[in-house]
Amino acid sequence: MSVQAQVRRLTAPDLRARKGGEPIVSLTAYTAQMARLIDGVCDFLLVGDSLGMVMQGFESTVPVPLETMIAQGQAVMRGSRRALVVVDMPFGSYEESPQQAFRSAARVLKETGCGAVKLEGGAYMAETIRFLTQRGVPVLAHIGLTPQAINALGSFRAQGRDRESWPGFVADARAVADAGAFAVVVEAVAEPLAREITQSVSIPTIGIGASPACDGQILVIDDLLGLTDRTPKFVRRYAELGAAATQAAQSYADDVRARAFPAPEHTYPERKA
Ligand code: KIV
Repeated sequence: MSVQAQVRRLTAPDLRARKGGEPIVSLTAYTAQMARLIDGVCDFLLVGDSLGMVMQGFESTVPVPLETMIAQGQAVMRGSRRALVVVDMPFGSYEESPQQAFRSAARVLKETGCGAVKLEGGAYMAETIRFLTQRGVPVLAHIGLTPQAINALGSFRAQGRDRESWPGFVADARAVADAGAFAVVVEAVAEPLAREITQSVSIPTIGIGASPACDGQILVIDDLLGLTDRTPKFVRRYAELGAAATQAAQSYADDVRARAFPAPEHTYPERKA
């Protein structure tokens, strides 16, 4: 028998049951190394398609392929043991039909071993969410600012800035909850709207730039660590690892140029004659 303690991974139903309870903690993770570092403090790790902007330098999430999400989903699963891992469905992999969404989601679940997928969209995606959840695919929905729609929206600015638009966002939240989503990400809306949405649905709301009125929070890990140069206004940077990385590289470069580092005391394995 293994001497390693068995750790039970959190599941979508575990998080669904947290509505109105202890706030849900989540961060994005794209690599095994980062997953290993933050697994113990997060309830779920999102392999977000934000990796297209953060890791790959794209201007939006639109170019990200399903294969990339699967590869990084596998990495995050290898690096974590306890947190639920949710993998984003990238643009173009689910919008066409519920059947297309199921084929993509089934690949994600089978090839990564993750516990749920996330997709963007409100009432207009409810039919697809129902199709997936009735077939064993736990779905995290995503409303408010939906970054995959950047070409239609024109910018990443906050949503619900006029009160007349609020009922539409509340209806979106209700539709995805009724369709079986286990939770819903609410992005870039002001506190009163986030509160109204949170009070209107029986599933947890996970805010990003949507105030503490939500049932949980998510941030892009590179923003929180101070690794990105364009950080959204609502993000608190808990570290400045970007500046620290540049400083470390500079100190190394100085040492290399000055031949100033100690010679290692290697003992190379004896060559066999
Ligand atoms: O892709 C992502 O990282 C996300 C979060 C910002 C919610 O969708």
